[in-house]
Amino acid sequence: MGPQGAGKGTQAEKLVEETGAAYIATGDLVREEIKKGSELGQKVKEYSDKGELVPDEIIVDMAKPLLEDNDSWILDGFPRNQSQAETLDEALNAIGEKLDRVILLEAPDDVLVERLSGRRQSEATGKIYHVEHDPPPENDEEDPGPFVQRHDDTEEAIRNRLATYHEQTEPLKDHYEEQGLLVTIDATKSIDEVTEEVMKVVREDS
Ligand code: AP5
Repeated sequence: MGPQGAGKGTQAEKLVEETGAAYIATGDLVREEIKKGSELGQKVKEYSDKGELVPDEIIVDMAKPLLEDNDSWILDGFPRNQSQAETLDEALNAIGEKLDRVILLEAPDDVLVERLSGRRQSEATGKIYHVEHDPPPENDEEDPGPFVQRHDDTEEAIRNRLATYHEQTEPLKDHYEEQGLLVTIDATKSIDEVTEEVMKVVREDS
């Protein structure tokens, strides 16, 4: 969990390498659907371009089969409101699974806006970079790119996504604190320092 630009995708990539768990990122599922140009893709694009949440039933339909098909997962960007959190609790109960941990990456909005404005993603590998903090490699063999800016990384959409986060997602902190699952990490530190903290939590659990 964490606001847009806190580094959820950046850290999830490393966690997936470390644990071998399936990576379920609802934002990636939304972007894949948009790329396909399907009817559903056109519908979700309207929400995503504006930085608004896609309706719960669409997101749940996308994520649920992946939960059922895999034994372990890293969830990124889901759940994002109380109703999605309750749906997730029910879906996990139904398949006899539970969350091990909820890691919250926290950073102030001004840091997040700067990060998102400099974000680039490789079209070839999907890997996330930042023009200053983690520049794309110049060597084609490592990652041929091209390195593109996301369509929702405009200042207006970023501000909208952050407002939605504070209003709808941030209150989930209480939901997971009550379940004794929440660990908060200071995400203003460098990428490597945050990775170290995240790995510490995961290793303590295993
Ligand atoms: P999604 O793709 O999940 O986007 P998001 O929530 O806006 O999150 P981001 O991907 O922007 O942030 P991140 O924390 O992953 O940051 P990153 O690691 O890239 O969702 C997109 C859209 O899909 C939503 O707006 C919505 O419409 C829809 N959607 C998705 N899930 C939904 C749901 N459950 N319900 C309804 N709708 C849903 O890092 C950002 C940048 O910072 C990078 O350039 C990175 O290199 C850099 N960086 C990272 N960490 C550091 C660090 N420690 N120091 C310096 N730079 C860093």
